[in-house]
Amino acid sequence: MMNAVLVGCGAMSKAWLDAARQIDGLAIVGLVDLDAERAKARAREYGLDGAVIGTSLDALLDQTKPDAVFDVVVPAARRDVAFAAFAHNCHLLTEKPLADTPENARAIVEAARRAGRIHAVVQNRRYVANVRRIRRFLDSGAIGKPTSIHADFFVAPHFGGFREEMAHVLLLDMAIHTFDAARYMVGGDPAGVYCQEWEPANSWYRQGSSASAIFDLGGGKRFTYAGSWCAAGFRTSWESTWRIVAEHGSLVWDGEDGLKAEVVLSVRDGLFDLTQPIIVPALDPADRVGGHLGIIKDFIHAIETGTEPETRGSDNIKSLAMVFGAIESAETGRQVAIVEEAS
Ligand SMILES: NC(=O)c1ccc[n+]([C@@H]2O[C@H](COP(=O)([O-])OP(=O)(O)OC[C@H]3O[C@@H](n4cnc5c(N)ncnc54)[C@H](O)[C@@H]3O)[C@@H](O)[C@H]2O)c1
Repeated sequence: MMNAVLVGCGAMSKAWLDAARQIDGLAIVGLVDLDAERAKARAREYGLDGAVIGTSLDALLDQTKPDAVFDVVVPAARRDVAFAAFAHNCHLLTEKPLADTPENARAIVEAARRAGRIHAVVQNRRYVANVRRIRRFLDSGAIGKPTSIHADFFVAPHFGGFREEMAHVLLLDMAIHTFDAARYMVGGDPAGVYCQEWEPANSWYRQGSSASAIFDLGGGKRFTYAGSWCAAGFRTSWESTWRIVAEHGSLVWDGEDGLKAEVVLSVRDGLFDLTQPIIVPALDPADRVGGHLGIIKDFIHAIETGTEPETRGSDNIKSLAMVFGAIESAETGRQVAIVEEAS
């Protein structure tokens, strides 16, 4: 039996508790929120009658002594939560983003290493079937090595709450999913970025609802990202829409079920080489999917087997470095080197 305390009982905690109740051998023994009423409401909603409710994570960890902390707080509170978890010898699974600043990200990863605890991030858009299929297809060499990766993200949600007040809202709160997916799908090793951010007249956010970035993903690969969180009309998928150009063909994905590829033939017709459709194989049974549920299961498996999970903090920090690099570039108007080392 694995015992966990969940901290942060806001909107996202439902996805965690929905997943947690599907996992045999996992018990939520405590719920923490600055607002005790929220924690109580979640306990009632999920029938967690035995769970201890509190407003102080430290006090609740002293009392319940769990194996793990599930961190679903806002990014600004993440460092305190992580340090409390490790101080109580707990493993830590944290919502994205891993941290709110580069300094806090390094401090959390280092604290996990020193404590010898598993530390992983819910980078759940990696656990999407078509993301796994694209990675396998590109790895197979069927259209050669990817060279140019393009993602568009245009979604216009009215969340209310912290997002409408925070700085760099699109880059810090959402783009990490797209950046991490890009890095994963093409096996990229981000080395630099140039980015601009702006606040269009149609925005309802304080800062950074719209951004455009060009990344150097190493080995000659470039990744362009265009995103907006206030572009009403022609909404894209939460996964973004993608075009990946490779040496011998291209792949397009609408972020949902529409995934197609074309390979170049060695026949030219006028100006153009002929191309033909090529099948992107179905999901491999070994590919791990399932969003929050898949990640929580992998986290538990890592604890039980003493292995490192795929979305471990020490690797995820490289995707987060893409975010912080983009923010620094947007603030300074200069191209920025990305130097974070994944381990
Ligand atoms: N993986 C995804 O797809 C996904 C989607 C949405 C949000 N998120 C992430 O989930 C996290 C939470 O987002 P949300 O939408 O649930 O926010 P929210 O504002 O609805 O909930 C956050 C909760 O944390 C509580 N809290 C804040 N500081 C705390 C502290 N120090 N101790 C205890 N409780 C504290 C707040 O009172 C609030 O109830 C964010 O990091 C967000 O980026 C991830």
